[in-house]
Amino acid sequence: MNLTKYLVFNFYGPKMWMVFLLLVWGLVIGTESSTLTSQPEMEANAIYNSGWWNTSDANYTISNRCNWGQISCNKAGSIIKITIDGYSDEGVRGNNFGTLNLSTFHNLESLVIMNVRLQGSIPKEIGHLSKLTQLYLSSNSLVGEIPPSLGSLRQLKHLDISHNSLQGSIPHELGFLTNLTTLDLSQNQIKGDMPLSLGNLTKLTHLILYKNFLLGEIPSSLGNLKKLESLDISNNKIEGSIPLELGFLRKLTSLYLSFNRLNGNLPISITNLTQLESLDISSNFLTGSLPSNLGQLSNLQLFWLNNNSFNGTFPISLNNLTQLEYLDISKNFLTGSLPSNLGQLSNLQLFWLNSNSFNGTFPITLNNLTQLEFLDISHNYLTGSLPSNLGQLSNLQFLLLNNNSFSWTFPISLNNLTKLEYLDMSYNFLTGSLPISLRNFSQLKTLNISHNFLLGTLHSNLFPFTYNKASIDLSHNNISGEIPSTLGDFQQLLLNRNNLSGTIPQSICNVSYVDISYNYLRGPIPFCVHPSAVIGNKDVCNNTSCDHIYFQDFVSENKFYFQPCSPIFQPCPPVFQPSPPPKKINKVNHHVAIFLPILIVLILAFSSLVCFKLCNNSTKKKNGNTTTTKNGDVFCIWNYDGKIAHDDIIRATEDFDMRYCIGTGAYGSVYKAQLPCGKVVALKKLHGYEAEVPAFDESFRNEVKILSEIRHRHIVKLYGFCLHKRIMFLIYQYMEKGSLFSVLYDDVEAVEFNWRKRVNIVKGVASALSYLHHDCTTPIVHRDVSSGNILLNSEWQPSVSDFGTARLLQHDSSNRTIVAGTIGYIAPELAYTMVVSENCDVYSFGVVALETLLGRHPQELLSSLQLASTQSMKLCEVLDQRLPFPNNGMVLLDIIRVVVIAFACLNFNPSSRPTMKRVSQSFASELTPLTIPLSEISMQQLMSQEFKALFHILNH
Ligand SMILES: *[C@@H]1O[C@H](CO)[C@@H](O)[C@H](O)[C@H]1NC(C)=O
Ligand SMILES: *[C@@H]1O[C@H](CO)[C@@H](O)[C@H](O)[C@H]1NC(C)=O
Ligand SMILES: *[C@@H]1O[C@H](CO)[C@@H](O)[C@H](O)[C@H]1NC(C)=O
Ligand SMILES: *[C@@H]1O[C@H](CO)[C@@H](O)[C@H](O)[C@H]1NC(C)=O
Repeated sequence: MNLTKYLVFNFYGPKMWMVFLLLVWGLVIGTESSTLTSQPEMEANAIYNSGWWNTSDANYTISNRCNWGQISCNKAGSIIKITIDGYSDEGVRGNNFGTLNLSTFHNLESLVIMNVRLQGSIPKEIGHLSKLTQLYLSSNSLVGEIPPSLGSLRQLKHLDISHNSLQGSIPHELGFLTNLTTLDLSQNQIKGDMPLSLGNLTKLTHLILYKNFLLGEIPSSLGNLKKLESLDISNNKIEGSIPLELGFLRKLTSLYLSFNRLNGNLPISITNLTQLESLDISSNFLTGSLPSNLGQLSNLQLFWLNNNSFNGTFPISLNNLTQLEYLDISKNFLTGSLPSNLGQLSNLQLFWLNSNSFNGTFPITLNNLTQLEFLDISHNYLTGSLPSNLGQLSNLQFLLLNNNSFSWTFPISLNNLTKLEYLDMSYNFLTGSLPISLRNFSQLKTLNISHNFLLGTLHSNLFPFTYNKASIDLSHNNISGEIPSTLGDFQQLLLNRNNLSGTIPQSICNVSYVDISYNYLRGPIPFCVHPSAVIGNKDVCNNTSCDHIYFQDFVSENKFYFQPCSPIFQPCPPVFQPSPPPKKINKVNHHVAIFLPILIVLILAFSSLVCFKLCNNSTKKKNGNTTTTKNGDVFCIWNYDGKIAHDDIIRATEDFDMRYCIGTGAYGSVYKAQLPCGKVVALKKLHGYEAEVPAFDESFRNEVKILSEIRHRHIVKLYGFCLHKRIMFLIYQYMEKGSLFSVLYDDVEAVEFNWRKRVNIVKGVASALSYLHHDCTTPIVHRDVSSGNILLNSEWQPSVSDFGTARLLQHDSSNRTIVAGTIGYIAPELAYTMVVSENCDVYSFGVVALETLLGRHPQELLSSLQLASTQSMKLCEVLDQRLPFPNNGMVLLDIIRVVVIAFACLNFNPSSRPTMKRVSQSFASELTPLTIPLSEISMQQLMSQEFKALFHILNH
């Protein structure tokens, strides 16, 4: 048999087939092992390619990865653990989960990446890590949904992906993870129902789902989780009743169901959970009475059931909970009297009973709760007197007994509560005298006994604890006598609505906030006292000298008037000298004789100024105000609308220190000052030498004259002013964001300054100008409308400011003037006519409106508008490129309207410009959607008559 024949024969025979197959298989294996790498090498590649580690760092060479500390390997060099915790590890932060190729780590048993701002979503490939027993991804920045593939990790014991921004719902596949003992999904944005399949996780000891948006009811299948020790589903939107099956979870030590929408009764089965140490069912809609055998929960230490609608009585058995440290049953509808044996809760430290309907008396045994630090019984119907031995609660720091019907006298034993910081007994029927002294209350910060029927006087020893900046409220009582002349620096002292008499001591100025209104006090009001704090005392008088500038009361906008003390007015103190010693008032008394007549003239002059109403309610015009200002030396203007001391301004700015300067303008510097009341104001100040320049002086007075008479949401508010030859300043509302100009030319601010905000600013300015031009009896032309004179507050609301050059349009005079305003905003016709009219403001408004949308001054665009190339430019090409082109149709339409109006206002022919009234009306009219594609609109279209008609801006 020759060889060929043998081969041919055998090729068809079984043996040869086997040889052939083996050969092929060998070939396949051979190629595989030569092109693919080993498991450790694949992992090394994945680690290297993730870019998470700086592998050029000597401490992070790839070959050394098993010794990095963050990585552990098995004997074969394959990775079994990755542990990155931002608390101990500074290295790896802000990475994207997606760049680590998870599917290569076949041997991984533990993956811990916590507190490192890990980004991206959880890759679905995580389901390939079949050996994983623990997965901790908490406190990162993960988004997206929880991948259902997690359900394949059958070995998983611990799954914690809490404190991220995960969305979607809980995949029911998690129910396959039957080896799970910990499941923590808390603090995400997970929606939807809790899947029934959670009931399969019978080995769970911790199920933590708080702070999500979970809906639906608590699945009764949770009753299967017999090993559960901790269940927290608080802060969700869970509805329905508490399933009685929760009573099967005998191992539970903590159960948190608070801040949901649970209703129905508290099931009696809950009282089977005798291991419970913390139980929180607060802030739900639970109703009915509390189970009478709550006392079975004998291990309970923390118990919240507040903010529900429980009714019925306080369960007596609760007294068995001797471990309780914290009990909050406030804000329910519990009735009846408090059990007499409450004193058994001997470990109680914090106890809230407030806002129920408890009646009866204060339980005597409460005195046994010597651990108590906080007790709130307020807002109930308790009657009778306080037990005399209340002083035994020696650890008490907070005691709230207010809004009851207690009718005791002030219990002397309270004086033993030396740790007391907060005592509120207001709104009761307390009678008898005030104690002589509260000497022992050395920690007291708040004392409120207002709204009782207390008698007695304010003995000077009453408040020896003044160093605490305490807040004392004794208002609405029958306290008589005088205010002690030694008062400490209280934060707050309220004595209003009593029977106090005598004069007001200067020591009252040590108190930050005082109210002594509605008493029988008499004599001068100390300069530090706000007028609203002394009203209702008919014999007090105004002792104001002109170092006080009165201005608008921020809150109530009330006006106050007090009869002048005698002698009528004191002269101005020399407070305007370089280093002001503001308390030197008396030294200059001998000037009275000289200054008095001048002052009277000034007062008269000022009254006429006040009468000079520009807007609405008066058509009278008087001209008596200007000449008097020349009398110079002692001229301060004030009005009786609230007050601020000149000293306060000096103090707040440390005598106009440069550190408080926030800008300099044409007429002086602007400072930011925080007044003692907390209010922040802006001050515009002229320097001494500038004040002597007539133009500056004039502009300041002009601004005062105009601003003190007009009031509009979008016109800067003038709170007060001091006009004096040496120092002149105006006090304005403080605008946090500065000028429109500064915002537009700051690349960071400009991005936050989105289209909606920009359109609103233009609308606000339009309404302010319309008001000035059309709603005042005498029209006012601003003459300097520019982006630098439009200020923005923290809510991006605009105010038109700087009325230094504003003009009242007198229809009987020629209104000719020198050109005023800011270059780039001045209407072209002013260059040759010099006639002031509202049209000039309209032009400037057009510039500002375009500038707001372009993010730059429109000069270039305007001067090239005659060119065909410019006319064919698209809107999207000229808008501020730092913002994305608006994707909202309504916003875009709003922008188009602003541009159409702006072009109409920029008409070279003054009489063709729309009035500000028309502009405002156009902004107020409803927007009708256009049929053309908005992003394609060209400059030419925006300037067309057709578009003007569309937006109702044509002049008729
Ligand atoms: C490497 O680690 C050592 C000790 O942990 C440390 O002292 C050194 O600064 C590290 N080197 C670099 C380049 O981070
Ligand atoms: C739970 O883990 C054990 C080993 O730790 C494993 O044998 C078992 O298959 C796992 N259970 C399930 C349902 O996969
Ligand atoms: C408690 O409220 C329930 C309804 O929520 C009512 O049926 C019951 O009569 C009330 N009980 C008392 C004692 O007021
Ligand atoms: C307390 O209120 C209950 C009804 O809520 C009433 O029956 C009882 O008489 C009251 N007790 C006292 C002492 O006023």
